[in-house]
Amino acid sequence: MKGVVLAGGTGSRLFPLTKVTNKHLLPIGNEPMIYYPIKKILEAGISEVLIVTGVDHMGDVVNLLGSGKDFGCRFTYKVQDEAGGIAQALGLAENFSAGEPVLVILGDNIFTANLKDAVNTFTSGASIFVQEVHDPGRYGVATIEGDRIVAIEEKPKIPKSNFAVTGVYMYGADVFTIIKTLKPSGRGELEITDVNNDYIKKGQMTYSLLEGDWTDAGTFESLHYANQLMNKQLHD
Ligand code: DAU
Repeated sequence: MKGVVLAGGTGSRLFPLTKVTNKHLLPIGNEPMIYYPIKKILEAGISEVLIVTGVDHMGDVVNLLGSGKDFGCRFTYKVQDEAGGIAQALGLAENFSAGEPVLVILGDNIFTANLKDAVNTFTSGASIFVQEVHDPGRYGVATIEGDRIVAIEEKPKIPKSNFAVTGVYMYGADVFTIIKTLKPSGRGELEITDVNNDYIKKGQMTYSLLEGDWTDAGTFESLHYANQLMNKQLHD
């Protein structure tokens, strides 16, 4: 399996912190945000990692991360010209994946769970991680029946459950075929939720609960919480 960190987007909800830098370079605990998803991929036993980011800050991201020598891995970089959505950013990983499955982590997702077992048992289709939250309406929300997810709604006004879809996904290489069929959503983006619903319709989606702490860091409140979590870990 190969690893993909998606670190594009505009970071508009964190303006002006993101006026001159990329959201994923902001500090969390004592490290830049992007270190956390990268380290989760390495912890899972994956050593080939693609970083996708926008044109504006690719130089800074490469300056920070380099070849991967310091992390004991190999980085590949891809530019996303415009913030056309998470699924569009993932589509840029097709050549990199070279037919292998991918572990994809959104660059602003901060969590404590170890993904190694999930990665080792993944075979094909798609597998996602959910966690119960108090404010589901700002996430992809999963409707779960028994041991199956039957649908995911992106940022629903009236959420059907409290299960947020986290920004941690595993896909077989067929994900790139699905991405090519997507149409932009109402907000003009290729949505990862549409990719996931395609797998659900085909009966090829499995899920697990993401154990431990999890948050994104895309709003002031969640950025603050991510810092609290990682500062606590530093001092534990
Ligand atoms: O954090 C989990 C949530 O992430 C999921 O529950 C949602 O289903 C999913 O759509 C996403 O929601 P957000 O509204 O939080 O996504 P956001 O636009 O903040 O993008 C999250 C990350 O994805 C961002 O840190 C970088 C990457 N990204 C995003 C866009 C729009 C890209 O690499 N390129 C993009 O064009």
